This record gives sequence, structure tokens and C-alpha cells, in this order.
Amino acid sequence: MTSEPTTVHDERAGLVDGFGRVATDLRVSLTDRCNLRCNYCMPAEGLDWLPTDQTLTDDEVVRLVRIGVEMLGIREVRFTGGEPLLRRGLTDIVRRTTQLDPRPEVSLTTNALGLARTAPALAEAGLDRINASLDTVRADTFAQITRRDRLHDVIAGLEAADAAGIGPIKVNAVLLRGVNEDQAPELLQWCLDRDYQLRIIEQMPLDAQHDWSREAMVTAAEIFEILGRHFELTPDPEHRGSAPAETFLVDGGPATVGVIASVTRPFCGDCDRVRLTADGQVRNCLFARQESDLRGALRSGASDEEIADRWRLAMASKRPGHGIDDVAFLQPTRPMSAIGG
Ligand code: 5AD
Ligand code: SF4
Repeated sequence: MTSEPTTVHDERAGLVDGFGRVATDLRVSLTDRCNLRCNYCMPAEGLDWLPTDQTLTDDEVVRLVRIGVEMLGIREVRFTGGEPLLRRGLTDIVRRTTQLDPRPEVSLTTNALGLARTAPALAEAGLDRINASLDTVRADTFAQITRRDRLHDVIAGLEAADAAGIGPIKVNAVLLRGVNEDQAPELLQWCLDRDYQLRIIEQMPLDAQHDWSREAMVTAAEIFEILGRHFELTPDPEHRGSAPAETFLVDGGPATVGVIASVTRPFCGDCDRVRLTADGQVRNCLFARQESDLRGALRSGASDEEIADRWRLAMASKRPGHGIDDVAFLQPTRPMSAIGG
């Protein structure tokens, strides 16, 4: 064994940035549309959706994912949106992704609306895990936050995913001051009762309306304090140091809760993510202000190697951190729903 490894799995051929971080986790937004209107994400009337001809086709998505997996060292693929369940070809895209070699881990970030119907097919296509967005288990608060009275459909979706063997089910929640922050213990208890893993995320400046303010954000320290009124939280020895969620044992374990301090304790130094928008732009960071166009390359007949080169180049300029605390911080031009969570 004297020769240097030269296979496509060689990390040097992967997505390395100027700070030595290697992206192995690809988040693919399949649509910028959504059937909810969470007020920390979108205005009530929705947004100007991407025109269909600018959106990657199923074949184009799968080709880019394949290049990522076969040539660039991607090991995890997460489909997001907007709401990825609104993408008609989702099950097929998942199946073709789980058939890649090496097989990546495949997950979905979803609001779970409609999952009650599609969970069995997604499980059969090989979907490994879901992260469901759920900020409250009270119907009135749910309607207040999402502007839709659909809590029951979400709960049915989670139950169907569980029954189909997609797991563990993670629940992502955002706390909004004066709206649902005091419901965090209730949400945690609800998740504990069902063996779902709750992760509470600090609200980030990614809303389309640009209403975010640091003062209004419920910080990780507050989240810890609010949960601590009802539960005993201790650091989880198994998860210490693993980004991005700080995981705590609840009442001695084994159940855990995660707190994601994206703003107050950023984990950019450990970032292993890269994002692809529904219109085929590589974003090396959620907060990037520049994108690299792969759709144009795809549609002008570029080879896999040329696309892989473009993608590598897109990573080189990844900045060290999101810089939310810099006075010069500017929110990205696209909102979260168009980037993918
Ligand atoms: N800050 C933090 N999380 C957000 N999400 C949507 N917008 C924001 C934001 N501004 C969450 C959703 C979902 C995931 C994709 O990101 O609730 O769980
Ligand atoms: Fe839809 Fe997610 Fe935005 Fe809510 S946060 S409106 S579920 S994309």
C-alpha cells in the first residue's frame, strides 16, 4: 500500500474552504414554496415564487446530488424547502439519492403537512430521518404563528412518519417572545411522551420581512432557563462538542433536548454544510451574499468534472463566520424559505 489514494473519495478532491473546513453535508432546497406562513419566515401573502423554468428539474437535482456524492465527498443529503413535500417528484428524488454509491444518509426538513399520506412511500424510498418544524402544540398558538389552522395535520404527519419507521423524529422549534416562549416546557413534555427529539433554535435574521431583532430573539441562555423551571437539564456526555445542537439530558436521561445557539454561540468554525437552492445556485453559507450558478453550467452542457470544479471553487470563498454581530452585517438577499434550512 504505497501509492497515494487517488479515488473520488479522496478528501482532497472534496469541498474544502480556505479555513480547512470540509463540507460533507448537502442541503438541497426543492422548492421555495410553502403551505404555511410562519410569521418569522414569510409575510401573510407569501412571496414571489421562483418561476418553474428556473427551478431545477428532478433529473437536474439528482445529477447535482450524484456529483456531490460521487465526486465531492458529500455524505449526508437533506432535502428542504420552502416545504419539500410540495415537490411532486420528492419520493423519486429520495429513491434515486439513496441508490447512490456510497449511499448518503438522506433526511428531510419539513413542516409535516401531508406527511400522513406520503410517509410510507418515503420510507420505502429509503428516507432515513426527518426534522419537523413545530413551535407549539396548542392549536390557537399554531394558527397564530403559521397563519393556518393545521396543527392536527402536522401531528398526524409525525405519527405516520413514526409508524413508517422513519426515525428518530426530530422536532425543530423557534421561540417567539410573548407568543410561545412560555410553552417550551409543554412542547418538550409532548415530545418526550412520543420519543421525539426536541431542538430549540435561536431565531436568525433570515425572515423575508427583515423584522428580526436581536432584542426580540429568545436566546439559548433563556431557553435553558425556561426549560430549567420544569426539568433538570444536564450536559449530555455523549454529545458534548458535537455541532450544532448543544444536547442536554432531561431529568437524568436517557431523553435529551437540544438547544441551537446559532446566534449567541455560533458554530461556524465546525461547519460542514453546503447548500443548493431550488434554482441551482450553490451557497457556501446560509448567510452568504454570493451564490454560484450551477444551473447555467448544467443547461449549457457542462461535464460532471466541470460542474464539480465550479462547485469546489464556490466553496473556496466561504467566510469564517456569519458575522451577525458585526456592525456591517447584512442579511442575505434571499430569505430562509428560498435558501433551505
Ligand atoms: N431562524 C431560525 N429558524 C428558522 N426557521 C425558519 N426561519 C428561521 C429563522 N429565521 C426554522 C423553521 C424550520 C427550519 C427549516 O428552520 O422553523 O424548523
Ligand atoms: Fe413554511 Fe418553514 Fe417558512 Fe414555516 S418556516 S412558512 S413551514 S418554510
